[in-house]
Amino acid sequence: MTVDVLGDWRRTHNCGELRRKDAGNPAVLMGWVQRRRDHGGLIFVDLRDRYGVVQVVFNPDIDPQVHAKAHSIRGEYVIAAHGKVALRPQGTENPRLATGEIEVMAHELKILNESKTPPFPIENEAEVAENVRLRYRYLDLRRRRLQENLILRHRVSKVARDYLSSQGFLEIETPFLTRSTPEGARDYLVPSRLTPGGFYALPQSPQLFKQLLMISGFDRYFQIVKCFRDEDLRADRQPEFTQIDVEMSFVGAEDVQECMEGMLETIFSEILGVELKRPFPKMSYQDAISRYGSDRPDIRFGMELVDVTDLVSRSQFQVFNQMLDRGGIVKGMNVKGGGGRSRKEIDGLVEVAKVYGAGGLAWIKVEAEGCTSPIDKFFRPEDLQEITIRMEGEHGDLLIFVADRAKVVHETLGHLRLHLAREMGLIKEGTYQFLWVVDFPLLEYDEEQGRYAAVHHPFTAPKDEDVAQLKDAPLEVRAKAYDIVLNGAEIGGGSIRNHRGNIQSLIFDILGIGPEEAEEKFGFLLEALDYGAPPHGGIAFGFDRLVMLLCGAESIREVIPFPKTQKATCLLTGAPTKVDIEQLKELHLDIKI
Ligand code: AMO
Ligand code: AMP
Repeated sequence: MTVDVLGDWRRTHNCGELRRKDAGNPAVLMGWVQRRRDHGGLIFVDLRDRYGVVQVVFNPDIDPQVHAKAHSIRGEYVIAAHGKVALRPQGTENPRLATGEIEVMAHELKILNESKTPPFPIENEAEVAENVRLRYRYLDLRRRRLQENLILRHRVSKVARDYLSSQGFLEIETPFLTRSTPEGARDYLVPSRLTPGGFYALPQSPQLFKQLLMISGFDRYFQIVKCFRDEDLRADRQPEFTQIDVEMSFVGAEDVQECMEGMLETIFSEILGVELKRPFPKMSYQDAISRYGSDRPDIRFGMELVDVTDLVSRSQFQVFNQMLDRGGIVKGMNVKGGGGRSRKEIDGLVEVAKVYGAGGLAWIKVEAEGCTSPIDKFFRPEDLQEITIRMEGEHGDLLIFVADRAKVVHETLGHLRLHLAREMGLIKEGTYQFLWVVDFPLLEYDEEQGRYAAVHHPFTAPKDEDVAQLKDAPLEVRAKAYDIVLNGAEIGGGSIRNHRGNIQSLIFDILGIGPEEAEEKFGFLLEALDYGAPPHGGIAFGFDRLVMLLCGAESIREVIPFPKTQKATCLLTGAPTKVDIEQLKELHLDIKI
């Protein structure tokens, strides 16, 4: 078949814009053939582009040759049709299409390109294995859902840019070829040709450069920017992802939070038409862990954790007592109306608990005349009653308990809480519950490495009232850090920074980064802090995660045009690939595997 050239044809309309008022006018349309149907001598083509779908009709009475040519077109061919807009005959309108009241009666046709039969249907949302979708991502991206996701992504970035610009922020680029910016992941390294043995690191975030920009006096900076982290991937993590990165001078944590609430308010209003209630609630890290078992609690529903350590300590139950002897705790949750669960269903919950590290799960059914439980014989009735009262247990409820180290108890119950809420339909879809989690600890102890590590990053400032404890009780020190959580997902995090060199050096020291190493790795920052660094702080949002939640998508891969697999490979291009020996030589590299 011959393929036509565009020549002097120019598209007059896209496939989504023709309406009843256009009837009688000429139109030149270009797009992809979604479907061709032959019907009573007429050929109907659904022509598609990113704007929509429009019906083009080839009638043998208008031009038999054009009609014959139309006969040869197949799905995903790229065509141009010249014709006249007509109202569809009564009764044949298609209310599901925005263009459904009209059709275009074609009198000329150009076939601009042919297409092989695609490996999956483009026109419907039939489930296709994700590896096939990623292998043919350019076809997957022709499908409606991904097109809508990327259009929404564009709109969100535009609203964010406009909002931040309106608030006096400047968008300033920072380098990708740089040195390590620690955010807790491994670096992606880039070997240098001109510095034998030298490597750039791709930034895990623009953290250090944005701080330098504050020292330069830029005052309010933002960037919608790629970050690179070599870490284990999950549904909400990619090796390269995008942040809305923000930094401000002369501010405290509340100023950053207020400004960012304004941005989110604008985004949700303009993108979803949802008016958010401000200010967003705040919860301390301590409370979040203790009441919800998570530092990013989903507070769209209750089912809070209840500490019963004191009450169970009076029991004869060995499992609990042994844990308490070892400094453990016992916490429980009231599964409302869960008393009807069968033994098998409860065993299922025990298995979920074990996945998250608990040794088991104890339970009590609250019944009209007392409690039933495999462990009730170990308790005095009055203690069981007190436990029931504290947990607000009523007839028909199921009380569940985990005994272990606090960390395991919180992690297990935190996950069980989400698991149960999903199962019981407690989560109201279509609601957006924001939460600031504040007062994080500055440091945690890394058992494996045998030293302290920063909970956020090493540049986060301690709370003024806790600074005195830095040396003697470092784990007690709280940070001027804040995370923002939406429906149980961490969509952003930030802090006020150490703008004074001496505090920054002290923190490096506590982190086990001695003066020489600090000088070697972060000397440029320490030096810059000594030249009049203003108080400053900021935040970064996971842009992909935010867009994912706005789209209602299940994975950030659904809002990233060309994402990577769990193994950090690109199924489309085949990256990462081996490179030829010459290139390695130029880079002074030798591969030993
Ligand atoms: P943080 O490391 O918390 O902070 O990152 C900010 C936000 O980025 C998102 N995010 C990711 N999204 C997708 N894939 C990943 N691998 C990934 N890792 C993080 C999360 C997270 O909340 N420099 C600091 C910010 C600051 O202090 O201003 C930083 O990068 O939604
Ligand atoms: P066992 O003595 O291991 O048979 O456990 C008796 C009951 O206690 C079972 O229902 C277990 O699921 C439960 N159990 C065991 N370990 C724990 C734990 N760490 N926390 C809560 N319940 C537990």
